[in-house]
Amino acid sequence: MTQSSVADADRGARFWQGPDGGPFRYGSEQHKALFCRMLLDTFNPYKPAVIDWPKLPPDARERLVSLPIWDIAVQTEGKAKLRVATYGETVADPLLKQAIALNGFEEGRHKEVLANMVRAYGIALAEEPPYVKPRDAEWAFMVTGYSECIDSFFAFGLFELAKRSGFFPPALVDTFEPVMQEEGRHILFFVNWVAWHKRNMPWWRRPWFALKVLGVWGFLIWERIGIARGIGGAPDADNNFTVTGSKSVGVEVSPRALMEICLAENDRRLAGYDERLIRPNVVPRLVRLARRFMGKSEAVELGSTAHRDLFCRQFKETYQEFDPATLPWPELDEAALQRLRAVPFWQEVLHTELRAGAIVKQFTATVDDPVLKEAVELQGLEETRHAALIREMIRRYGIAVEEHPLDPLPADIVTAFKDFGFGECVDSFLGFGVFKIAREAGFLPESLFAIFETLMYEETRHIVFFVNWMAYNEARRGRAPAWRRGLTSLRFYVRALKRLVGTARRGAAQNDGKDFSATQASMFLEGFTFRRFLEDCYAENARRMRAFDPALLRPSFLPKLADVALSSLRLWSFRRRPAQT
Ligand SMILES: [Fe+2]
Ligand SMILES: [Fe+2]
Ligand SMILES: [Fe+2]
Ligand SMILES: [Fe+2]
Repeated sequence: MTQSSVADADRGARFWQGPDGGPFRYGSEQHKALFCRMLLDTFNPYKPAVIDWPKLPPDARERLVSLPIWDIAVQTEGKAKLRVATYGETVADPLLKQAIALNGFEEGRHKEVLANMVRAYGIALAEEPPYVKPRDAEWAFMVTGYSECIDSFFAFGLFELAKRSGFFPPALVDTFEPVMQEEGRHILFFVNWVAWHKRNMPWWRRPWFALKVLGVWGFLIWERIGIARGIGGAPDADNNFTVTGSKSVGVEVSPRALMEICLAENDRRLAGYDERLIRPNVVPRLVRLARRFMGKSEAVELGSTAHRDLFCRQFKETYQEFDPATLPWPELDEAALQRLRAVPFWQEVLHTELRAGAIVKQFTATVDDPVLKEAVELQGLEETRHAALIREMIRRYGIAVEEHPLDPLPADIVTAFKDFGFGECVDSFLGFGVFKIAREAGFLPESLFAIFETLMYEETRHIVFFVNWMAYNEARRGRAPAWRRGLTSLRFYVRALKRLVGTARRGAAQNDGKDFSATQASMFLEGFTFRRFLEDCYAENARRMRAFDPALLRPSFLPKLADVALSSLRLWSFRRRPAQT
């Protein structure tokens, strides 16, 4: 496969939106079609036999060979394949049958990938036990499904750790990446199947099924506790690797930090699929609960090299390759086209992105530190790509925009970069809320929002990078205390807000507000209140920020401000209520 077709297959496996059909009932035909199509449409057609196993330096190979997981991993995939396939044989519904068959096929392929790898690096495997066809196919399918829900959750985090620490060399990371993403698809498919399945059985079977679910969890917990006791001795010690494995992948992290990484990775891996699908939530909820009883995550010292490396590395590692021209742009019907064209701010957005690209590019030239320089340069590329993405959208959908040449950039490019950074913090925070409201209102087809989502994610990365860069620099100048940095930020935030108000005024004057607000915005504005908007901004910001290493700073000014505003709004409505009745 060529480089770009690999990237396409990878993207195709990661992002998927069902046909727009609005809300539906869980257990309905539409629900079934959605989760089955999700699995089928995101199939990644790689072939284990043609994977070119990268030659590893001796120490990397040694580390890999010494991991105690390969026997259990191969056997688990073997069992999973048989169990999933066996259940699939009992299913009558053709679409569901097809999806489960694919699930089984992929488990078999995981086994093959692992076995090939093990062979390539000369790892000795124990003899595989015979795989026995389960008697209760449904039970066996559920055991596999729920244990994948547990194991994948931790595997996501450990994989990320192994990647960050360099324990897995990049070539190997690339090879395993599709396997990881496949497990994400499997658990998503599985929990939706459970929700659908239990609603489609006769009423008298439902209590029995609920007991079965409990039984499966009981069994899995018992299995894991039993294995945990066996650690250090028994050959099956590695069954519990996913829970105890952070040391084995060569990184010392606190349990709390590992939990954070697992949660963030879990969110990230499942974020690209249709929002209407149910997400696996038992393990994330339990982990969130456990997190409350753990100590705070260790902080990195602001301004230290470790701090710099952390925020630059996170930024680089979360980079995604794509070409705006080849994104899955949907065909729009006339109504959607009109709504899209009536949005009054495309010109402003395009201009902002073009200017952003230019500022960051020019700023990059002034950065000496090579680590920072590389990261800032990447941001510049991304901003330029944002402009390209918006331009592509404008071209495809015939949006009326006049492109003006950029004003010359300010002479003080460092201040311009800072102003731009704080501006992004403000725009993104508000943008999160607008995006959520527009998406929930179905203002445009979901497939278009999925494209904008990439842009939103990149902006989130930019502002996290920016606030850390800012704090890093301030700390290096001896302004590490929070109040000191707070004062600097405040000054810049005030400037950013002033500019925003200016832009809004100009926009309103140019547009007269008439095209948009009268005809199109009613869709937005139905049920719109300032409070709901703030709540959406706040919640979306919190959700998106969870994806980053807990040791990094996040933009905090607007979230704090919103928090205060919301608390007072709540208090106010609480006080007001008695008077109304
Ligand atoms: Fe698997
Ligand atoms: Fe799986
Ligand atoms: Fe941008
Ligand atoms: Fe940006």
